[in-house]
Amino acid sequence: PYLNGLLAPDCEPPKMNPSIEPLSWLLGTWLSEPPGDGIYPTLQPFHYLEEVHITHVGQPMLNFSFNAFHPDTKKPMHRECGFIRLKPDSNKVAFVSAQNTGIVEVEEGEVNGQELCIASHSIARISFAAEPRVEQIMRKFRLNAEGRLEQTVSMATTTQPMTQHLHITYKKV
Ligand code: HEM
Repeated sequence: PYLNGLLAPDCEPPKMNPSIEPLSWLLGTWLSEPPGDGIYPTLQPFHYLEEVHITHVGQPMLNFSFNAFHPDTKKPMHRECGFIRLKPDSNKVAFVSAQNTGIVEVEEGEVNGQELCIASHSIARISFAAEPRVEQIMRKFRLNAEGRLEQTVSMATTTQPMTQHLHITYKKV
């Protein structure tokens, strides 16, 4: 049975709130396949694994977690979790994420069919966040013709203009 949390163990599986239907193609558990590609002008190219959980509990929003791992050592790397909301009666989307690197960000954009394009609206960081600082983030999610989810992340930092950092394809499990 679906656990809606320990405080509501016997709840029926929550019905999807109809307002999030335009985002329902994101729902599920997704695993990177093949491993993701990391690049940036200042970095050696790298690969990573990622496990993604995108769920709902009947509320008019999605819950997400993205959990990256080193492809060889399987050690945890980047992690983030948050919520995706839709502005009622529109295709406007807000994406709120807390990351283990000490940044918290809000991105906004639009969903069009099975494609979601968002860009940072505000970024907050802990006072001792590592340099260089990320100043802008852009992401694109899309469900491709093979039913795989793809994410592309670009960013601008205090030393680099907007440039791609990540591209990854996930298979639903
Ligand atoms: C480096 C931001 C997601 C792996 C960096 C840097 C920034 C950054 C600002 C430093 C770049 C430089 O030195 O010029 C972000 C943001 C992310 C994100 C904003 C999400 C929106 C990820 C993910 C991975 C990853 C999912 C997967 C493992 C790395 C690695 C480096 C790096 C390996 C280089 C070593 C290090 O600084 O730890 N990232 N990153 N990042 N990122 Fe990301």
